[in-house]
Amino acid sequence: MANEHTIRELSHEDRTFDPPPDFAAQANVTAEEYTKAEEDRIGFWAEKAQRISWETPFDEVLDWSEAPFAKWYIGGKLNAAYNCVDRHVEAGLGDRVAYYFEGEGGDTRVITYADLQREVSKTANALVELGVKAGDRVALYMPMIPETVFAMLACARIGAPHTVIFGGFSDRAIADRVEDCGVEIVITADGGYRRGKTNALKATVDKALQDLPQVRNVVVVQRTGQEVNWDDDRDIWWHDLVDRQSETHDLEFFDAEHPLYIMYSSGTTGKPKGIMHTTGGYLVGTSYTHWAVFDIKPETDIFWTAADIGWVTGHSYIVYGPLANGTTSVLYEGTPDTPHRGRWWEIVEKYGVTVLYCAPTSIRTFMRWGRDIPAKYDMSTLRLLGSVGEPINPEAWMWYREHIGGNNCPIVDTWWQTENGSILISPLPGVTSTKPGAAMRALPGIVADIYDEQGQPVEPGSGGYLVITEPWPAMLRTLWGDEERYKKTYWSQYPGVYFAGDGAKYDRDGDIWVLGRVDDVLNVSGHRMSTAEIESALVAHSMVAEAAVVGAQDETTGQAIEAFVILRESAKDRDDAVQQLRDHVRASIGPIATPRAIMVVPDLPKTRSGKIMRRLLKDVAENREIGDVTTLADASVMDAIQEEMRARQ
Ligand code: WT7
Repeated sequence: MANEHTIRELSHEDRTFDPPPDFAAQANVTAEEYTKAEEDRIGFWAEKAQRISWETPFDEVLDWSEAPFAKWYIGGKLNAAYNCVDRHVEAGLGDRVAYYFEGEGGDTRVITYADLQREVSKTANALVELGVKAGDRVALYMPMIPETVFAMLACARIGAPHTVIFGGFSDRAIADRVEDCGVEIVITADGGYRRGKTNALKATVDKALQDLPQVRNVVVVQRTGQEVNWDDDRDIWWHDLVDRQSETHDLEFFDAEHPLYIMYSSGTTGKPKGIMHTTGGYLVGTSYTHWAVFDIKPETDIFWTAADIGWVTGHSYIVYGPLANGTTSVLYEGTPDTPHRGRWWEIVEKYGVTVLYCAPTSIRTFMRWGRDIPAKYDMSTLRLLGSVGEPINPEAWMWYREHIGGNNCPIVDTWWQTENGSILISPLPGVTSTKPGAAMRALPGIVADIYDEQGQPVEPGSGGYLVITEPWPAMLRTLWGDEERYKKTYWSQYPGVYFAGDGAKYDRDGDIWVLGRVDDVLNVSGHRMSTAEIESALVAHSMVAEAAVVGAQDETTGQAIEAFVILRESAKDRDDAVQQLRDHVRASIGPIATPRAIMVVPDLPKTRSGKIMRRLLKDVAENREIGDVTTLADASVMDAIQEEMRARQ
């Protein structure tokens, strides 16, 4: 457990915002839901499972006898794609729009549920033709385009777990994941549009697969029309393969615990963890929370999660949750400032978005750009706002409420993690009186607490470690190929209890404030990265002798990466070295991992046992007085570092 951390003190927040009465009057969920779930948690989750269509009903809700390996909805059989697509068409909703796709350059596509059924069936047939069988893993490295959804659902339809790799990751990140996951089929595109330029996805895949002959086929969507290299034996255009397939595909049903997908996420070591989600519980969790937290009315809402499908937020709240609920969503390919800084608000106005879900880092960026920009658009259709990915500071919360929500939209600050699968802690918009910056309380059916070091629940007014004390349907089931790491990472700090790795605090009213990671995991713009991952990228460079990375507070991105490096003798020119290292990290992990600053230092602060004291480096990076140095093996190291800093300024 982290021992170098102190839980940040918080002043009490006195502002509270009751749900607007007209909102509360029409809300999907009332306060009774909490009572119902408290009285009979398992019965509650049995009832919520009825949101989903089961080919064979389950005969037991939860089997926790082999904890921490959970089984939910035992004996149940279902198909995730059927639940997200076909059943809505069968119910006569084929003409309902599933996605309003908006390309960055302004090209658009409207995809109905009937379209989705045809496209998913064709794609499923295509994968079968390539020899993909239930249980085989398929990797996706895609832009934010409808084909990404078709491919995910096609995988789900045939029981082949997908592993979606964020389009901003490097070739090395792809290679690691393909290898760890035993992938034989990769789906990608020639490129996608970002900031008015095209990014070379296919070229990155080519590089990643250089030494991975295990990948039999690469299916390539033509999105940008840019030049690509071609391997005739391996590569196949999506349009050549998928377009000629039959529009119907026979369904097969899978066990509730059949793996649905694997999503890699950073942990405290250099090696990303393959977080595995299964079918039944995940669909119940995402469908229920999407309906309850976002108060979804599928007939009238236009829902927009402004996140990338390559992260769990996109999996759960662009794809599975909204589709399971038969919702109409917006799917936007690009960045918020292309071609202009009003792009998001233009989209809200154009489609009449009613519920918007995004990250605090975006909100802080919009704050910086100024209120005049959103003020130019008609955003009166918005009725609810959501936040996710990192703690939202009260100023950003208030700005979001006023300048985006017109002071009459409830805000749901939703806490959850890739591991959780679905939102766990959040206000309910028709029930909860919200406070700027607080995630408030666990959702019905979820049991959260805050523990001290000894595993005792803390009192209101105190902080500690956030834990989930009972299993929940959408929880991860294991880490791909590493059961030991699964047990150790999440279930060993406090036996039998899920350890989230976040610090949290109960305020005087007993409401939860999530404060951020207590381990060596960084959160940059809501993206998770580990210090160890970036450090190992740095030391892999021949110029670097040693490296330490810390997350320093940043006004826009929440945290920013700052690296301290000791150079080898051979590295002559410092400025040149810093630039080279920056490029090197970007190439090894991806642009999101690029350090804000790289400081060349003569030595690193270490304890007598050789552990780097990152806390002290964080003090330097955040321009604070240096904390206690008495446990350092050599206290003069910090003087030398500070001198170095002063000399550089
Ligand atoms: C970490 C999980 C789940 C979607 C995106 C991130 C932080 C997430 C909140 C929130 C404070 C939050 C936590 C968590 N986090 N939501 N509402 N308030 N912190 O998924 O990459 O798995 O990261 O994001 O630190 O542990 P992820």
